[in-house]
Amino acid sequence: MFATQNWYCAARSDDVLNKPIAKKIVNTEMVLFRDSEGFVKSLAAMCAHRGGNLGSGRCIDGNLECPWHGWRYDGEGNCTHVPSLGPDGKIPGAAKVQAYPVHEAQGFIYVWPNSEAIPDWKPAHHRFLDAKYHVKGACRLQKGNFINTVEGSIDDSHVHIAHRKTIGASTAVALAPIQNVTVDSDNRGVEGFMKWDTAAKRKASRVTQWMNKHLLGVSEDPATHDKSFRAEMTGLVIHRYRKQDEHDFVVYGITTPVDECHNLFFAGFIDTNPSRSLIGNLIYWLGFRSIGPKVFDEDEGVITDAIADRFPGGHPRPISVNADTMGLAFRRMYASHVFAEGGEPAWPAARPN
Ligand code: FES
Ligand SMILES: [Fe+2]
Repeated sequence: MFATQNWYCAARSDDVLNKPIAKKIVNTEMVLFRDSEGFVKSLAAMCAHRGGNLGSGRCIDGNLECPWHGWRYDGEGNCTHVPSLGPDGKIPGAAKVQAYPVHEAQGFIYVWPNSEAIPDWKPAHHRFLDAKYHVKGACRLQKGNFINTVEGSIDDSHVHIAHRKTIGASTAVALAPIQNVTVDSDNRGVEGFMKWDTAAKRKASRVTQWMNKHLLGVSEDPATHDKSFRAEMTGLVIHRYRKQDEHDFVVYGITTPVDECHNLFFAGFIDTNPSRSLIGNLIYWLGFRSIGPKVFDEDEGVITDAIADRFPGGHPRPISVNADTMGLAFRRMYASHVFAEGGEPAWPAARPN
């Protein structure tokens, strides 16, 4: 069901320091740790000896030690030490665990869960991720199927309904159409644009108006600010607003499938204006810390209440309207990679409108 020749975000760089952490990515149990040079390594979490859980082991001199009998593994998964054999003992040749490719960039750690195919591309570099004011949320385990979760993170049409208690508008009105949808030449990213016609303004909630005025720096009705959308194979979704000061305000989410009914979800926002004050940044941070979890709870609620358990792939016969354009573009792109690997996505690729 999932594309496996793909990079998935497993953790933030700060999450992997001197202790190993366990992660399940596309149904594969892994453990991440840093070797003696500080490079992140990813190994299958099951020890070659008796299946001890390496995820609860510890790091010794850049090797990973199993918590059961203390066998140690290097970053390539080779067993380097078996305590019971003593210093001159011969380590069995088969004592090895699977290693997975890792790519660490711009504060995130990506893993490639397919041990057969060698990665031939890297996640795109985004300049906004290097901006000084980057407010990052913690990695969250979110219940819901993958496709609904990614689509939910790029879908503005649920905001004033599902999030009416937090960031949504008090009244539901029409959204501007999504236009100019393009697919990257390597078929790993899709982009679209929303341009408001001034006659079609919608009323934002008081919270949204306050946040947009202070966070986005726009003074017209901010709910109807023009924006661009982008979704990538890594599960990264980007909402980019051009502010009046010519800088961007970017809200992003990264969804990584854990299994058919769970995802890791990373979110954050960034103001690319480097001269924002410390106070301004503190407001950002406090706003995100206090409202963010409530917003994600609301998302999780609607996605799981609906269909996550009954239909892991989401609705079996979805009907779409213009507001679903970006979600559909992602769904088609991701599905094409699953098909290319000889798999079958659990969700229908998409029906025409
Ligand atoms: S199970 Fe890991 S060392 Fe024995
Ligand atoms: Fe949402």
